Amino acid sequence: MSTKPEDIFKNIVSHCKEYGYIFQSSEIYDGLSAVYDYAQNGAELKKNIREYWWKAMVQLNENIVGIDAAIFMHPTTWKASGHVDAFNDPLIDNKDSKKRYRADVLIEDFVAKIEDKILKEIEKAAKRFENFDETVYRSTNARVIEYQTKINDINLRFKTALNDNNLNEIRQLIIDCEIVCPISGTKNWTDVRQFNLMFSTAIGSVSDEANTIYLRPETAQGIFVNYLNVQKTGRMKLPFGIAQTGKAFRNEIVARQFIFRMREFEQMEMQFFVKPGTEMQWYEHWKNNRLKWHLSLELGKHNYKFHDHIKLAHYANAACDIEFQFPFGFKELEGIHSRTDFDLKQHEQHSGKKLQFFDVEENRSYVPYVVETSVGLDRLFLSILSAAYKEEKLEGGDSRIVLSLPPALAPIKVAVFPLVKKDGLPELAEKIITELKYNFNVSYDEKDTVGKRYRRQDAIGTPFCVTVDHQSLQDNTVTVRNRDTMNQERMPISNLLAYFEEKVSLKSLLKQL
Ligand code: GAP
Repeated sequence: MSTKPEDIFKNIVSHCKEYGYIFQSSEIYDGLSAVYDYAQNGAELKKNIREYWWKAMVQLNENIVGIDAAIFMHPTTWKASGHVDAFNDPLIDNKDSKKRYRADVLIEDFVAKIEDKILKEIEKAAKRFENFDETVYRSTNARVIEYQTKINDINLRFKTALNDNNLNEIRQLIIDCEIVCPISGTKNWTDVRQFNLMFSTAIGSVSDEANTIYLRPETAQGIFVNYLNVQKTGRMKLPFGIAQTGKAFRNEIVARQFIFRMREFEQMEMQFFVKPGTEMQWYEHWKNNRLKWHLSLELGKHNYKFHDHIKLAHYANAACDIEFQFPFGFKELEGIHSRTDFDLKQHEQHSGKKLQFFDVEENRSYVPYVVETSVGLDRLFLSILSAAYKEEKLEGGDSRIVLSLPPALAPIKVAVFPLVKKDGLPELAEKIITELKYNFNVSYDEKDTVGKRYRRQDAIGTPFCVTVDHQSLQDNTVTVRNRDTMNQERMPISNLLAYFEEKVSLKSLLKQL
């Protein structure tokens, strides 16, 4: 068993295929790059994550409602939102390897490497000195100061270049930092060019310019254009939110790391409409609220951190990411953005319709400000799966692979086994399944030894297995085996439904919020 993060990640990817979680799209035609299909267990896990998010956002908050807007939207939507003009990535090619990179990612990765060096210095010093004070060390150690100054210089140049859309300066920064292509190892770079990430297609039978429409690159705009309809028909008062889950599409250049960055993916977004001037208070509220939601999954507090944005998107006056420690490092999982009144004002301007709120107390109308929470369902799936995946050594030299998924999210909640395929045990097992299946997903397995069946369910992440044996026929009790502790307990069949309901229903997670 390797403990190297890159090996573990490879193992997770192959585990996803072997146990029916994720398949490469169109695999029989050698696959389609950065597009994936969710298999029988993956689709269930994804549905459960989506449901948990929806219940936490919509069901638990009286002032948040959910909608389901179409993927296709009027093309002017994307002009108004700024995506036609500004939803670009700066690209650069290495002339030797012919590989294409996002210029901003090359610089960010370079900065991250210097940050790692600082952390290593701090770690070393913390071990050396008693009463170690990190703040003092950061401000006095010559090497750390040198690294930090370098980071600040790069960040400042980078931020200015991005704000000025100065592509030559971004290229110059790559050259000055002596960044090399990871494939060819050379610094032989092309110019930096902007590339729009939206997919376009034609609507109707005549394919000319006028019929070009886009596959939505974010679900948020479907919420903005419906703001007034929802506010009026739902008689919503500020502050209130509109939530939505659905597919989004981006022609990502650097599509890599499995389902982390895909060209077709799913977002779960909520726009919270607030009175202007109160947005920072709500921004803090949603930052904390969303982190709490992630922590409720109990995948380890140390796996999450906030990252405040240096470069704000064109619509934001504050923004941060909740980052998760994936096997390939800390990366963005969810974005929290204070989007001001940018989107609604843009849509007012482009549609000629007022998108305002009449404040009875102040006797005036205004365009609300918006705080957005936006998480990728696929990225969330990967975070949960990678934290749950464990290669364990057991006593006696045995080993197992177990997915310690939060039980409420597991695709199958209970597997029922007859000890042997005769003597009426399969029939009793089927009877138990019939009692449980109206409440949650249950599976039946009679093949191989019970030990092998446990291992199969561990690898799928099934939190409980029930074994029916000859004693069950006598006294109506069964053995219930726990996936994580591997403990077994004897239990009356009549108690099973209530026992599992308490352990595996979403209610157990929702109650922590
Ligand atoms: N409406 C705001 C918005 O779309 P974003 O930071 O571009 O903001 C939000 O995207 C979230 O969507 C990200 O935090 C990430 O979880 C997910 N996401 C974005 N691009 C993705 C991609 N290509 N593949 C998978 N998930 C993606």
